[in-house]
Amino acid sequence: MKDETLVRSLEARFYTDPDLFRAERAGLFARTWQFAGHASALQGPGDYFACEVAGESLFCVKGRDGVIRTFYNVCQHRAHRLVEGSGTTRVVVCPYHAWTYELTGELRAGPNIKAVPGFDRSAVCLTEVRTEIFLGFIFVNLDAQAAPMDAWFPGARAELEAFVPDWQRLQPLEWVEIPERCNWKVSIENYSECYHCALNHPTFATGVVRPETYDIQPQGHCLRHTTECQNLDAMTYEIDMSVRHAGDYSSWFLWPMFSFQVYPGNRLNTYHWRPVSVDEVVVWRGWYSLDGVDDEVVRRLAVQDRATTVEEDIHLVESVQRGLSSRGYRPGPLVLDPACGVNSEHSIRALQQWMREAVDG
Ligand code: FES
Ligand SMILES: [Fe+2]
Repeated sequence: MKDETLVRSLEARFYTDPDLFRAERAGLFARTWQFAGHASALQGPGDYFACEVAGESLFCVKGRDGVIRTFYNVCQHRAHRLVEGSGTTRVVVCPYHAWTYELTGELRAGPNIKAVPGFDRSAVCLTEVRTEIFLGFIFVNLDAQAAPMDAWFPGARAELEAFVPDWQRLQPLEWVEIPERCNWKVSIENYSECYHCALNHPTFATGVVRPETYDIQPQGHCLRHTTECQNLDAMTYEIDMSVRHAGDYSSWFLWPMFSFQVYPGNRLNTYHWRPVSVDEVVVWRGWYSLDGVDDEVVRRLAVQDRATTVEEDIHLVESVQRGLSSRGYRPGPLVLDPACGVNSEHSIRALQQWMREAVDG
């Protein structure tokens, strides 16, 4: 094969240029489905929490109709922030001049507004943000025209429902926060290939999964990880093999920065990448249990994961970030095996194509 026909990895500026990061935040992050929080945090009407997406402060709130809505966290009077943190409220009251909004965003009242000739209360409303609940996870998209999640990630919802039959009862038990000194895309690329696994993840590669069967394929804008498992009887926790998919390990990475992962025993955990700056990202690992009850197995998995795979990857991604700033780095060819498989980087090709499109349009 001639050298110019090779597919090369992205140029270093994609990971090191602060202007490019700002462009991603204003463009890509604002046009894609972003995780806001778990629906179990909003049990009753008026429950709310604030969150940040694409540099914007937002808040999610449950209405009296049971619907979870998301609004920009900004008063339509003179732009004060409406809520901080989380809580429960009957109406949303702005701390500046006490304009009051319904849980559906309409302006309900404001001191002395009736004295204003021509003031049309019904014309004032909080700015709503597209919201979808995906297996109890709240995702938002600042792009009002965005295609629904099922179009972005075809098949993922139904597959996850089959892998996690108890998803409606799941609640977050633990969030493990992992700061990494690298561009968010370095971390995501690391997550999205297993070409590095045999050398760097001894527990992972010799434990449950059968590395030679590991594969990652695009499914719309989802990267679908599948593998066969082995040694299930040696697992540190019990698995009810009568449940469908109990013996499977699988993952669904939802472009650009969230992943659902299911361990054998139908155990769900998640990754949420939160980019901080061009060379800093915080990865939030979410661990869930039935009804939020303390679960020794889940806690043990979280600790083991943090001590092995996560720890091993931190060193890799931080070294890559340093290398991307080297004048001596010229992007190398991706290892694209036409037969795909664990030692191929075809998933990186898909990812880097999305990365390129996000910036170059
Ligand atoms: S800015 Fe909110 S009431 Fe004035
Ligand atoms: Fe890894």
